[in-house]
Amino acid sequence: MAKRDYLVFTDLTKPQVDDLFALALRMKSGQYRERPLTGKTLAMVFAKSSTRTRVSFEVGAHQLGGNALFLSSRDIQIGRGEPIRDTARVLSRYVDGIMIRTFAHADVEELARFATVPVINGLTDLHHPCQVLADVLTVQEQFGGYAGKRVAWIGDGNNMANSWLDAAALLGFELRLACPEGYEPDHDIYERARVRTTALITEEPEEAAEGADVIATDVWASMGQEAEAEERKLAFKGYVVDRELMSRAKPTAIFLHCLPAHRGEEVADEVIEGPQSRVFAEAENRLHVQKALLATLMG
Ligand code: CP
Ligand code: NVA
Repeated sequence: MAKRDYLVFTDLTKPQVDDLFALALRMKSGQYRERPLTGKTLAMVFAKSSTRTRVSFEVGAHQLGGNALFLSSRDIQIGRGEPIRDTARVLSRYVDGIMIRTFAHADVEELARFATVPVINGLTDLHHPCQVLADVLTVQEQFGGYAGKRVAWIGDGNNMANSWLDAAALLGFELRLACPEGYEPDHDIYERARVRTTALITEEPEEAAEGADVIATDVWASMGQEAEAEERKLAFKGYVVDRELMSRAKPTAIFLHCLPAHRGEEVADEVIEGPQSRVFAEAENRLHVQKALLATLMG
């Protein structure tokens, strides 16, 4: 059987996402006791910082009976210019799966093309599919499903926004994004989503938040954009998820943030610490959904 990668949200079909969520929830409840990764190793290549992704993949592999290797790209030969295609072929002879977090999405595609073991995208500048799997699972747990839900994305049209667009297109829920001009999501990803589901982009956070079931946001300057931080603070003024914006959503709405968060910038302390916030359940779900993914791709 051909190896399967998970580079973008749409690398799974809708039935496969539903199966993955069912498995993740079985794992979360403690009913699942198998160890499909026994004797197997996941290599984790990081070119950017991480708390959640690193720890949840490492712990997840361990709980499934396997082993995980943390490989900072600064310390392996990739950091000295060894080609990705060579790294892919070498790692494939030692390990059973590769998780990578890096800058250019094309680098992850190249790794996947040359690797003979499954490759999982742990975040690129363009996508963050594992996070959005955890986010949609959190929505499903909260509301008993994601069908018919309205999700509002407030702020930067970044990797998270792009993966939310892919998720909305694949799973068929509604997505409204409020982004300042010049900070919209990827054009092609948006156009693909727009023909499959209700997806709109506005410059008005209030319009996006109106009647929403979920309000989600992320930092204004992502990893690699540190030099633009001041300029971005000006551009995103007014794109703050505060109590006033939350009041536009349904009273039952939840607040999501992939973390790390900047209180007082994209989100007010009263919201992230408030009763509608599900950010820690969301972070926990990284572990369960990624274990399901590891078992599915590497088991
Ligand atoms: N949300 C997320 O991916 O967190 P880390 O950067 O800590 O992995
Ligand atoms: N958009 C953020 C997500 C961090 C988990 C970044 O890329 O830095």
